[in-house]
Amino acid sequence: MSLSGKNILLGVTGGVAAYKAAELCRLLRKTGASVRVAMTEAACRFVTPLTFQALSGKPVLTTMWDGSEGDGMAHIHATRDVDWILVAPASADFLAKLAHGRGDDLLSTLCLARSVPLLVAPAMNQAMWSAAPTQRNLAQLQADGVRVLGPAVGEQACGETGLGRMLEPAELVAELRATAAPRVLAGRRVLVTAGPTFEPIDPVRGLTNRSSGKMGYAVAAAARDAGAEVCLVSGPTCLAAPSGVRRVDVETAAEMRSAVLAELPADVFIAVAAVADYRVETVAAHKLKKSAAGLHLDLAPNPDILAEVAARADAPFCVGFAAETENLLAHAEAKREHKKLPLLVANLAQDTFGLESAELILLDAAGSHLLPRADKTTQARALIRHIASHLN
Ligand code: CTP
Repeated sequence: MSLSGKNILLGVTGGVAAYKAAELCRLLRKTGASVRVAMTEAACRFVTPLTFQALSGKPVLTTMWDGSEGDGMAHIHATRDVDWILVAPASADFLAKLAHGRGDDLLSTLCLARSVPLLVAPAMNQAMWSAAPTQRNLAQLQADGVRVLGPAVGEQACGETGLGRMLEPAELVAELRATAAPRVLAGRRVLVTAGPTFEPIDPVRGLTNRSSGKMGYAVAAAARDAGAEVCLVSGPTCLAAPSGVRRVDVETAAEMRSAVLAELPADVFIAVAAVADYRVETVAAHKLKKSAAGLHLDLAPNPDILAEVAARADAPFCVGFAAETENLLAHAEAKREHKKLPLLVANLAQDTFGLESAELILLDAAGSHLLPRADKTTQARALIRHIASHLN
């Protein structure tokens, strides 16, 4: 997806990562976008406006008090013909300003006076990122509809390691491209399950599996980018909910089933979760003590959430995932027919857990369609396009 013809206002705030915004500006222009840069006073201490002027080909906005343009109301006009405002890097201080609706410099005023989507790419020291006020401000921004891109984990300019590093310029361009993608699921309600389930044995132990939840979260984000209203019913993972996606947290398969049924009706149900097939029949009320005699657990089968949803009279378009270690196509096709699914995504079980990439095979009534190995975000976007082609 090219960004040709798109107008972007790139806001740069004060942080070491401002140097990466120069590369971001260059990449955005390379994809065909037109870029206007607005810098805070602190940003100008890290990189000079002249650098951004040269890279964007336009004068850089730095102050509210420059009356040289038009009627002197740059804070109103500068966002009137843009498609997005992207603030990268967004410092902790700038996020705080945005969350409180302050407008004490040009960039914050532009954000306040905007009528276009606002995306922010936070960049800060890991302690500043995890500080309670920053997290409060982020929650407020997300509730206000601001898209938060990143941050990533990694080594920081201060020498510490942790969450807070700005996403790389190429990743930010990919996010904007996804935002610009055709909204093939606009107006649709999409329900996604993700992650493992946890079936308790006693108050401190349980049965679970190694699903990371990454694929399900990527599918939820891709559905959101395609314009859908997305609910993500998630088992225990350490992932952050994609912004703009409503997440319902569950532990057991029974809780996942209840949460899914409560979210129906939906247009599409994508069951990515690795639901435990069995639960412990009688959960011990107290911590089990070890015994030389060993331990015998009686397991009862869990309800099959996907099969139940697919069998309903008001069934959404149901998509299953099947991880197999052998005879991939034959087992997966049998599963699709058994659960009566219009679409099933088959992958090798070895790819399911932990890896960042996967090779997928989409099976529907028309046959099979290979999605060659790629990262999970790319695969999720391709899957969403395929689902949309079925719906439309
Ligand atoms: N699924 C579900 N509820 C369950 C079990 C599975 O909704 N109790 C969904 C999964 O989210 C996935 C698909 O069904 O979309 C997987 O089907 P399943 O037959 O359970 O696959 P496996 O667990 O891989 O089956 P098996 O162990 O028999 O290979």
